[in-house]
Amino acid sequence: MHCGRSSAAAERNRNPILAVLQRHLPASGRALEIASGTGQHVVHFAAALPAIEWQPTDPDPAARDSIAAWCEQAKLANVRPPIELDVHRRPWPVSTVDAVLCINMIHIAPWSATAALFEGAREVTVHGAVLYLYGPYRRRDRPTAPSNEQFDASLREQDPAWGLRDLEAVIEIGNAAGFELVEVVDMPANNLSVVFRRSTSTSSV
Ligand SMILES: C[S@@+](CC[C@H](N)C(=O)[O-])C[C@H]1O[C@@H](n2cnc3c(N)ncnc32)[C@H](O)[C@@H]1O
Repeated sequence: MHCGRSSAAAERNRNPILAVLQRHLPASGRALEIASGTGQHVVHFAAALPAIEWQPTDPDPAARDSIAAWCEQAKLANVRPPIELDVHRRPWPVSTVDAVLCINMIHIAPWSATAALFEGAREVTVHGAVLYLYGPYRRRDRPTAPSNEQFDASLREQDPAWGLRDLEAVIEIGNAAGFELVEVVDMPANNLSVVFRRSTSTSSV
């Protein structure tokens, strides 16, 4: 019996996220998950996509214990043990990967974490690699859902450096790091999947 942490939100969003990943991830290769949290996502994705080798990470030791517990229970050959990774601390302690996933992190960290995420991802990815983000955002051309406004206020109360990010600003910072936007997908509960691909042209970086 495992004793990993459990997040109801992760249980709810794992299948909608998986459906987007199945459209964008390569058939095989290596995927790096940033801010794996409980570990529920990585075992779910790894079970569904067995030809991909998954590397979960989190800077929080309690999160890493939880990830390890979920992995132990799932007994999947294609998930590596969790490692410590804070996006700000580069170089990241990983080898080259074909995809980077980051679910629900950039609003629960300072804005500097978003740039660090893209810059770190650029250092460890192959050309054409996928960078997948999931979470709530603000968009310049449309109103923010009341539930997301409340969530933003509660985040800023916890830490003034946290808060929902502007999608357009995230895309700009991604472009500057050499990642092109591929798709924005509306997800349940006013979240978005934001899919980037590392540019294959050398002129954009
Ligand atoms: C809300 S949890 C999301 C966990 C999981 N991805 C999910 O969606 O259930 C935010 C996670 O971001 C991690 N985190 C915070 N700051 C980070 C940083 N600078 N680098 C990497 N991860 C970070 C936390 O440790 C935490 O596990």
